[in-house]
Amino acid sequence: MLKPIKLANKNFLSSLDTSSEEIFHILEIAKNFKDKDLNIELQDKVLGLIFDKSSTRTRVSFKVAMSKLGGTTVDLNPTTSQIGRGEPIRDTARVLSRYCDVLAIRTFKQSDLEEYARWSSKPVINALTDLEHPCQALADYMTIKEEFIDFKNVVLTFIGDGNNVANSLILCGALLGVEVRIACPKGYEPNSIVVKKAYEIYKNKDLLKITNDPNSAVLGANVLYTDVWSSMGEENLKEKKDRDFHGFTLDSDLLEKAAGNAIILHCLPAYRGKEISEEVFESPQNRIFEQAENRLHVQQALLALLIS
Ligand code: CP
Ligand code: NVA
Repeated sequence: MLKPIKLANKNFLSSLDTSSEEIFHILEIAKNFKDKDLNIELQDKVLGLIFDKSSTRTRVSFKVAMSKLGGTTVDLNPTTSQIGRGEPIRDTARVLSRYCDVLAIRTFKQSDLEEYARWSSKPVINALTDLEHPCQALADYMTIKEEFIDFKNVVLTFIGDGNNVANSLILCGALLGVEVRIACPKGYEPNSIVVKKAYEIYKNKDLLKITNDPNSAVLGANVLYTDVWSSMGEENLKEKKDRDFHGFTLDSDLLEKAAGNAIILHCLPAYRGKEISEEVFESPQNRIFEQAENRLHVQQALLALLIS
């Protein structure tokens, strides 16, 4: 039976908090949970959820994951707790980590998440910030691995905004040695520090390409991935971004240029007719709901490897 090995870092704030070996291990444990081949008990353990932004998948999959492990979850809604009234993060973190065994936090600034982690005596997990969405990337690569068995010769093309999802795909992809191409409009490139760090990790620098041309980026790709054009917190930029992203809809013209075995991924929620056409979203090549399901399995693995 597979022996779970605790993660070396206390927190999971970024894909870079794990080594390449640890990501493979998380994916393996997740697969065992999915196949019901593994039983880890986190009885009496409590997960605190702090969500400053909306969520369906992340919130529910964390709650279900914790319940499957025998633990419980406390949902800390910032509007009904003192968080929304401006209690300092350092005080909130010191208090909550005396009650909870782990905190999963969705917020805006990565620096706020880091502040929670600095003052919390218990592990802190990034449940999405403006900079990264590392839990999502774990589920994405689990879905890719299920389809292609290993990551050798897999080309992942992300078409859209160089945002949190793209940043984590790049970092996790670098650690796993996956070829990642990002196609975004000018001015919407992924975070430059993220790209620099990824190039430092990649043994073969040709495996990461940032381009403004979606047509060349999809050529021969095995995975086509997109995300909303306007992320949470960018509601006021919606009209401008809709204009700027013209030509970046993942549609059947782009899909035709990809490899014959290409799969479609989307972290959800999706806006059909914007970042993805209805036809591509509903095509038999979509693995979007397998990907959503895998959020549960990777987070169950992550919780088990952080606090068991
Ligand atoms: N993909 C994702 O994180 O979805 P939610 O915003 O619904 O959690
Ligand atoms: N980039 C999106 C991802 C949603 C899961 C956002 O931040 O809103």
